[in-house]
Amino acid sequence: MEVKTIGVIGAGQMGNGIAQVCAQAGYNVVMRDIEDRFVANGMKAIQGNLGRLVKKEKLSQEQADAIFGRVQGTLKIEEMAHCDLIIEAIIENRDLKKQVFQELEKVCGAETIFASNTSSLSITELASFVSKPQQFVGVHFFNPVPVMQLVEIIRGLETADATVQVVKGVVEKVGKTGIEVKDSAGFVVNRILIPMINEGINALMEGVGSKEDIDNGMKLGCNHPIGPLALADLIGLDTVLAIMDVLYCEFGDPKYRPSPLLRQMVRAGRLGRKTGKGFYDYS
Ligand code: CAA
Repeated sequence: MEVKTIGVIGAGQMGNGIAQVCAQAGYNVVMRDIEDRFVANGMKAIQGNLGRLVKKEKLSQEQADAIFGRVQGTLKIEEMAHCDLIIEAIIENRDLKKQVFQELEKVCGAETIFASNTSSLSITELASFVSKPQQFVGVHFFNPVPVMQLVEIIRGLETADATVQVVKGVVEKVGKTGIEVKDSAGFVVNRILIPMINEGINALMEGVGSKEDIDNGMKLGCNHPIGPLALADLIGLDTVLAIMDVLYCEFGDPKYRPSPLLRQMVRAGRLGRKTGKGFYDYS
């Protein structure tokens, strides 16, 4: 199957990043969200990123315009009808994802491949929400999508080899490196990364160090590009908590207990960069 048009559900930081890299690779992209302002913000983010690349002379203005012209923002699920591959990138909520895939099934063709960019939910379970689980796969991009090289490709129990091959081809065409991983909570990267971040938050809660010292410790001591608390702000604290909850629930192991401070921050609406305040202030 040749993929020409890619649908992206969700125009947030992951969705607009995925839409951008797909358009840059030459695919036509339909990016859908549920409110005008979400679609507009997603389109604006893509335009801003492309503008930055023009300024750095990595793209000409004509190339940037052509890439931007390949992305269609929409509110209508029906516009996804002609997509060959649809990548869902909405919030980490199983029931909402179920609803989205069931709506998509009503409008898409029989050949359409459905993918989820979930950071931790079971691909096998998400695949069970559609009538052809063999055409369902996990494709997990990393934030910021235009910069990060990796994509985890996750096979659900029923995912067909042909589906994995199609997605591998797309990942290669967008210039990323794909690794194939088993459908296990958190897959590979988040299983290791998110508990590390959670431990950074526990260290802060216990007063082991200031937020700056904890972050500098991991930057200077381990060569991480940013510290765990700054990274939590980049990912979004609600997402970090959702992933810890999945790890805790799936493995039933107390080592995955979400930090009480993390839960408190989420309850206070301090979600990181996206709300202007997390461990650091971005206002
Ligand atoms: N979109 C596009 N490009 C971006 C960007 C964005 N949001 N943010 C930064 N960049 C680009 C910059 O334009 C710059 O490009 P050039 O090298 O061509 O000039 C480059 O990235 C470096 O940016 P900066 O100089 O502004 O800042 P930096 O050196 O501090 O890098 C960073 C920023 C790339 C985010 C870096 O801090 C980093 O790599 N952090 C770790 C990111 C990480 O671990 N991501 C994984 C999160 S986990 C995840 O996503 C999975 C999940 O399910 C939760």
